[in-house]
Amino acid sequence: MITVALTKGRLYKDFTAYLEDNDLNQYIDPLSEDTRSLYTVVDNVKFIFAKGPDVPTYVESGVADIGIVGSDIIEEDTFNILNVSQLPFGDCHFSVAGLPDQTEFRTIATKYTNVASKYFRDKKTDVSLVHLNGSVELAPLLGLTDGIVDIVQTGNTLKDNGLIEYEKILDIHARLIANKRTFYTKEDEIYKFLTEIGVF
Ligand code: PRP
Repeated sequence: MITVALTKGRLYKDFTAYLEDNDLNQYIDPLSEDTRSLYTVVDNVKFIFAKGPDVPTYVESGVADIGIVGSDIIEEDTFNILNVSQLPFGDCHFSVAGLPDQTEFRTIATKYTNVASKYFRDKKTDVSLVHLNGSVELAPLLGLTDGIVDIVQTGNTLKDNGLIEYEKILDIHARLIANKRTFYTKEDEIYKFLTEIGVF
């Protein structure tokens, strides 16, 4: 049995769309069930559903053998894992965004303070960061900050809130990550699964 940690939310939808596009029917129904259960088992693969930032924690500890996670999570924090490969879904990017008439960014709200801090440090721009846990688009709308650093995928969230993108920071993709020990001790089972879903 191998354990695969999946991210709930947008990446989960992208992963199930990838399964559908590739007719991987054996996984589609079990993974698409509308339930609050946090795991499901298909043959000898146990899938667990975790918050994005927790996926590398499960993989690092070895309770999950591999994981599928956005590169945003790996850019933001450091984990003792194997960062195995890029996956063909989950594409989006980090951007600086704000109200249309914004001329400078002195304060930025973000969930990704390390990514934002590095970006502005590299640009030699002095910015004060405010850490929020989500719905960061509210911050410039309410005057909490001049702008945000956040993930943009379709751009709909920015558009629906009257915000525009000013600077693209970095591309984001889904990544396959693995535990440093069990990736080798369970090599055959992991390889079989990855081959089956066409990512290895
Ligand atoms: C992310 C991100 C943006 C939105 C962008 O939020 O933080 O708010 O998606 O996607 P779009 O460009 O396709 O509209 P998420 O839904 O993950 O939740 P959050 O706001 O709680 O972070």
